[in-house]
Amino acid sequence: MKTVITFGTFDVFHVGHINILQRAAALGDTLIVGVSTDALNYSKKGRNPIYPERDRMKIINSLRYVNLCFPEESLEKKADYIKQFNADILVMGDDWEGKFDHFKDLCEVVYLKRTPSISTTEIIEVINSVE
Ligand code: CTP
Repeated sequence: MKTVITFGTFDVFHVGHINILQRAAALGDTLIVGVSTDALNYSKKGRNPIYPERDRMKIINSLRYVNLCFPEESLEKKADYIKQFNADILVMGDDWEGKFDHFKDLCEVVYLKRTPSISTTEIIEVINSVE
């Protein structure tokens, strides 16, 4: 039985998010998703996500690929989360290629290709540009 863990904000949920969660789930038997809190996002990007963490978690929790989701409160706690959930595989999008290789002593680290031509940032920009 293999447990897969992945992390993200998953704001303004889109098909790129579904694609990575579906492929992450296919790598093991259980998929656990860390959803970054509003506070963590604010500290990273200087703005709150469009959807608050409660709603982002509700969306992720309702997906059939996902067995469990939890709030990711700090980027520094990834190793603790991997240990806490006994994860065998850490999955990240290839925008993070190489950045999580230091977790290879804890679990397997897999980078999956991002879905081209879609991102939360782009969707927000398109909406903002509509007059
Ligand atoms: N992701 C993906 N393909 C996309 C967009 C996101 O595979 N087109 C993956 C990311 O690599 C990450 C997860 O989805 O593993 C959550 O990404 P997140 O940063 O929440 O989504 P983005 O759309 O990249 O958001 P932003 O534009 O704010 O960075």
